[in-house]
Amino acid sequence: MKTFIVSLLVLCGLSTAVYAEGYQVDIERGKALATAQCESCHGLAMIAMAKQFPNLRGQKPAYLNKQLVDFKAGLRLDPLMQSQVSALTAEQLQDVALFYSQQDIPNLSAN
Ligand code: HEC
Repeated sequence: MKTFIVSLLVLCGLSTAVYAEGYQVDIERGKALATAQCESCHGLAMIAMAKQFPNLRGQKPAYLNKQLVDFKAGLRLDPLMQSQVSALTAEQLQDVALFYSQQDIPNLSAN
């Protein structure tokens, strides 16, 4: 029982750290942000060309959101990405994570 309660507290703690509470994630806002700020590097042309630029399409939203939150918190280090997310809110990170998760996975096998 004690373990269960501790696990529950840990889960709650994690979820409040990662998700903005009570926020209705907005895929259209995520799309607008991706188009304006992320596609220059994470667009299909660039991920095919630049081997170190990861594909985000079709990845799980919770995974994408966690990476973005970690970049912002300095728990995952990458100068490019840390500067990309530094001015974004927790809500914007969720929006853009949802947007990319809903895109078709590209066939990169030729690259
Ligand atoms: C200037 C180029 C550039 C821009 C613009 C950019 N990124 Fe990135 N992004 C990268 C690179 C390079 C990496 C790989 C970092 C590493 O090696 O850890 C990355 C990694 C990521 C990851 C982790 C992927 C994984 O599989 O773990 C996510 C999520 C991400 N970017 C989302 C975004 C979002 C959302 C935006 C727009 C707000 C954005 N990026 C804008 C270059 C960019």
